[in-house]
Amino acid sequence: MTDPLFDVSGRVAVVTGGMGQLGSVYAAGLAERGMRVAIFDVTTGRVPDGIRAFAVDVTDRAAIEEAAREVQAEWGVPHLLVNNAGLDSPPDAPAEEVGPFESYPESSFDTVMDVNVQGTFLCCQAIGGAMAREGRGSIVNVSSIYGLLSPVQDLYAFRRAEGETFVKPVAYSVSKSAILNLTRYLATYWAKAGVRVNTLTLAGVWNDQPQDFLDAYIARVPIGRMLEAPEALGAVVFLASEASSYVTGANVVVDGGWSAW
Ligand SMILES: NC(=O)c1ccc[n+]([C@@H]2O[C@H](COP(=O)([O-])OP(=O)(O)OC[C@H]3O[C@@H](n4cnc5c(N)ncnc54)[C@H](O)[C@@H]3O)[C@@H](O)[C@H]2O)c1
Repeated sequence: MTDPLFDVSGRVAVVTGGMGQLGSVYAAGLAERGMRVAIFDVTTGRVPDGIRAFAVDVTDRAAIEEAAREVQAEWGVPHLLVNNAGLDSPPDAPAEEVGPFESYPESSFDTVMDVNVQGTFLCCQAIGGAMAREGRGSIVNVSSIYGLLSPVQDLYAFRRAEGETFVKPVAYSVSKSAILNLTRYLATYWAKAGVRVNTLTLAGVWNDQPQDFLDAYIARVPIGRMLEAPEALGAVVFLASEASSYVTGANVVVDGGWSAW
């Protein structure tokens, strides 16, 4: 039996960054629940049944609009947009990107802001606008505990102990904070048009990180472990479905209690 509260079957979703670790879990999980899912990602590749992958850079308005037109022509106006595409500095980022704040490169700041903030803004314009004209829709903007709170620089002490000057960079945090108020702005702007807009804030996802990092990180998580990627799907299904019909402008925090103490 399908619970009508959480039933999303027959609806259409766009998942940006859907080829990545979390996005691929959302795309597959939504398709398994009967949604037709379009992935917008700069990375392309094979995708499971029920999913179509479009080569879209979310900083490119024309590419977003072209793919959105194709989705709409084939399946209709999306019911769900998950703004999940995002950039962070990888653990092996160039030294200047993970060096002192004072010399963090302006170009890196712009690149991260372009994808994480402007990319979300552009997808909201292109797809949220169509949802509003249709009188319904749900947008999930993905943030991070590092957008809610400062990164804990102590977690990276093990890298400094190995002789590196490692500082968790600033741009990611600033970009993920911007998501919180883009969400609130749009939630109120489109509330009467039937489009709900919420933030999904996640803590660190398990991804085979170095043991030193895991030990330091897990010590700060009340639940005592990293987030497993499939555990983020429940919140996306909730926000996509009737179960969240009165939820808009909210921040759904899936952080194992990180922000509770
Ligand atoms: N992994 C974590 O620990 C964690 C924690 C909190 C929040 N998040 C957030 O969750 C989201 C997904 O993270 P992930 O860990 O799956 O990352 P990931 O790197 O595995 O996936 C990101 C995807 O976005 C795509 N992408 C990057 N730039 C793009 C662009 N310009 N246009 C279109 N697609 C682009 C990449 O190709 C990739 O497929 C991000 O917004 C991230 O900030 C992740």
